[in-house]
Amino acid sequence: MVQNDEWWRDAVIYQVYPRSFADSDGDGMGDLPGITGRLPHLRELGVDAVWLSPFYPSPQHDAGYDVADYRGVDPRFGDLGDADKLIAEAHNLGLKIIVDLVPNHTSSEHAWFQAALAAGPGSPERERYIFRDGDEPPNSWQSVFGGSAWERTPDGQWYLHLFDVSQPDLNWDNPEVREEFLAVLRFWLDRGVDGFRVDVAHGLVKDKNLTDWTTASTILGGLDPAGPPPPMWDQEGVHEIYQSWRQVLDQYPGGRILVAEAWVAPASRLARYVRPDEMHQAFNFPYLEAQWTPAALRSVIDESLAANDAVGAPTTWVLSNHDVVRHASRLGFPVGTPRMPGIGAGDPQPDAALGLRRARAATLLMLALPGSAYLYQGEELGLPEHTTMPDEFREDPAWERSGHAERGRDGCRVPLPWEADAPSYGFGPADASWLPQPATWAEFALDRQQGVAGSTWELYRTALGLRREHGLGRGGVTWQDGAFAFRNGDVLVVTNFGADAVALPAGARVLLSSEPLDDDGRVPTDVTVWAAL
Ligand code: GLC
Repeated sequence: MVQNDEWWRDAVIYQVYPRSFADSDGDGMGDLPGITGRLPHLRELGVDAVWLSPFYPSPQHDAGYDVADYRGVDPRFGDLGDADKLIAEAHNLGLKIIVDLVPNHTSSEHAWFQAALAAGPGSPERERYIFRDGDEPPNSWQSVFGGSAWERTPDGQWYLHLFDVSQPDLNWDNPEVREEFLAVLRFWLDRGVDGFRVDVAHGLVKDKNLTDWTTASTILGGLDPAGPPPPMWDQEGVHEIYQSWRQVLDQYPGGRILVAEAWVAPASRLARYVRPDEMHQAFNFPYLEAQWTPAALRSVIDESLAANDAVGAPTTWVLSNHDVVRHASRLGFPVGTPRMPGIGAGDPQPDAALGLRRARAATLLMLALPGSAYLYQGEELGLPEHTTMPDEFREDPAWERSGHAERGRDGCRVPLPWEADAPSYGFGPADASWLPQPATWAEFALDRQQGVAGSTWELYRTALGLRREHGLGRGGVTWQDGAFAFRNGDVLVVTNFGADAVALPAGARVLLSSEPLDDDGRVPTDVTVWAAL
């Protein structure tokens, strides 16, 4: 009998981006009451848990990943009472709630950073961050968002910010920082949250000598899976932090979890974050980044399962989130297209129909894999990236900091369409939306898809039900000869990447298919089928 405390091993976890999920008061910005009001939708979809991107007080220079107070709710999103109501209502509906924790950096408006600026060089307040003296930046590190990772204060010291200038990195060698985050964990655990998604989990500890590193700035830091990690990522010291957090979580009932956002390679190194005394899960970004080819997918699936099995952790799967181009658009580019830092009107545009077709096939493949899957809000509607957003609306700091070389991530963060014919497509009561919604989005609205056979929403809902019924999250992968096909328990999963239709084995009974089969009952190109044998 599976313990309830182990719910996360096969959970489907849905990411809500609070700014863009649902707006209850018509100011064009999503909010917590908006989310609470729409939770029944997630229950109906059939997910197990909801991960909320940050809703804490924040100047919003990085859409809330710049936290000014870890124990509050930004007035844009509501108040602590609204958070309590959201958690209670989710639990009533049988949904778990995971909140986002941002421990690598605070906002520059956090009381600690303000105190550090006021107290000056050499003060204990500055010891909570990474300040250094010098006429030049202390080293060659680049910010993930572009430009130097060092900013000078008026008194001449420099502080480190691996992200925006408004996101100073904390000094995790300082015991006070460690104590503070243990207290923050308890604060939210006491309010009933079921876990934490840990932002930039591979970044907290820096190489002691702040050794130079000249590779181009990316969150991956120019990772060479064979070589040593870059001096700002994946340092050995991060692990004892997560061990101490795990001890706190284990004092609470019901299975509270930690999930690492760690851009770490190879899979065996990432698996070190999910050893039995550390975190529970880590996002599988190599899977998200795998090309749409049978060889790439088979090898990332095998490597991920092997690495996680070796430490007894579930493998996770993900195709979209708030930092990447939505997979319905990403997959509409030719195979081999490198990772895109956003798309604008002047850039090559994806083939929308091909992208959606492949996205549906990719999702059905993902949801058949054993372990835990992450969905990003709107993908259940087949939502594409906004690929023609006028640049004047862009808010992602990467756009400015990269000198407009990167369009940034706004295109995947556009408020959701709920009702085709309502103002802001039902995102809120007013015709207001903090990022513009494309004029073509009525067709993606939830009310155009519910109860409509073959719609993307019905595909997701049916897949989640079958996944549960057949225990796919607890199963395994047994590859079959021939086409790209595997068995998971009593379900055969076939994805056709080739040009010719693929026949199913005799006696196979189709349970679900990402697109209709051809007239001869064969699987067409770019289609995934689940069949019972
Ligand atoms: C993570 C978040 C991203 C944010 C960055 C800095 O990568 O997912 O949205 O910009 O951390 O906090």
